[in-house]
Amino acid sequence: MADVLLKHLRKEFEGGVVAVDSVNLEVRDGEFLVLVGPSGCGKSTMLRMMAGLESPTSGDIFIGGVRANDVPPKDRDVSMVFQNYALYPHMTVRENLAFGLKLRKVPQAEIDTAVDKAAAILGLDELFERKPRALSGGQRQRVALGRAIVRNPKVFLFDEPLSNLDAKLRSQMRTELNRLHRELGVTMIYVTHDQVEAMTMGDRIAVLKSGELQQLGSPMELYEEPANQFVAGFIGTPSMNFIEGQVEGSTFAAGPLEMELQRTIPSGPAVLGVRPEHVRLVVASEASVVAVVDVVEPTGSETLLYTVADGLGLVVRITGGACPAVGDRVGLSLDDDTILFFSPETGATLN
Ligand SMILES: Nc1ncnc2c1ncn2[C@@H]1O[C@H](COP(=O)(O)OP(=O)(O)OP(=O)(O)O)[C@@H](O)[C@H]1O
Ligand SMILES: [Mg+2]
Repeated sequence: MADVLLKHLRKEFEGGVVAVDSVNLEVRDGEFLVLVGPSGCGKSTMLRMMAGLESPTSGDIFIGGVRANDVPPKDRDVSMVFQNYALYPHMTVRENLAFGLKLRKVPQAEIDTAVDKAAAILGLDELFERKPRALSGGQRQRVALGRAIVRNPKVFLFDEPLSNLDAKLRSQMRTELNRLHRELGVTMIYVTHDQVEAMTMGDRIAVLKSGELQQLGSPMELYEEPANQFVAGFIGTPSMNFIEGQVEGSTFAAGPLEMELQRTIPSGPAVLGVRPEHVRLVVASEASVVAVVDVVEPTGSETLLYTVADGLGLVVRITGGACPAVGDRVGLSLDDDTILFFSPETGATLN
């Protein structure tokens, strides 16, 4: 097992694209760390540098306390699982699992033990004699995982390994990977652009934007105490509502919306952030704003209301109780203790 330490890690590709920009990150021994961020933010590049498939322009990578920059990929003791995993089509599942170890000239008895163990963990025993074309997508994905497991690495690197699967299978595999992490207790670094995946899988989440680390923290820390507007908007579905307005003394105002603040925010322009579940339906006389329901989206356990007041749109999440209909006027209340403020210039969270 091993921790992974990135120090001032930077990757600039030919042509001047800075894919990773001076990232400092410590992944703890045995931790499940999720790297999340929008497409093109540098997630794969970071992972590929850890695996040794790409060399850093500057900065250092330590794996298990050893500087790994100049260690060739095969000697790094890491296993990487990609989105487009390729199984060998002419080999059976058992042969696919054993192949990597065979190449390394591992004794047959040891190969058998490793393959049997991985197969038991992933429930692949019954598929041993099948060829990849006779497997479902999820089964193939499990074989790809199995190949990583048999190598018994110190660190697992996953690059969006579930993105080719349908929603149901993805969620099954998510659970399976969580279980795998518990059983193996080994360091796992998992890349995704899906924030739901990040929230449900990570011990901690690192949010990346344009090659720069925005915040590192537990899922709840990122959800409740986002460092900036980008993290606040990226984590959580539906996204946090943002309202551009003005603070004057202890009042925040934005068009038709006005509310009293208990805290002190510097007067001037500010962006108010409120999550859909924190907007409350109230009678008009108690409302921060009265809005009209534009769209109603029931999802079963809860309902999303898309409301508009004078050009100001607010998404509201309600559970249970009476549900307003399209066209209804609703009083909406925001509470001081569940809203955040951001600087319109820097995006930083204001406290
Ligand atoms: N070999 C390369 N040469 C030049 N630019 C590259 C190369 N590989 C990646 N890039 C650029 O570096 C940036 C980061 O790419 P990367 O693949 O790391 O993003 P990502 O976060 O994994 O995105 P996605 O979610 O789409 O997979 C992008 O702007 C990309 O175009
Ligand atoms: Mg990628």
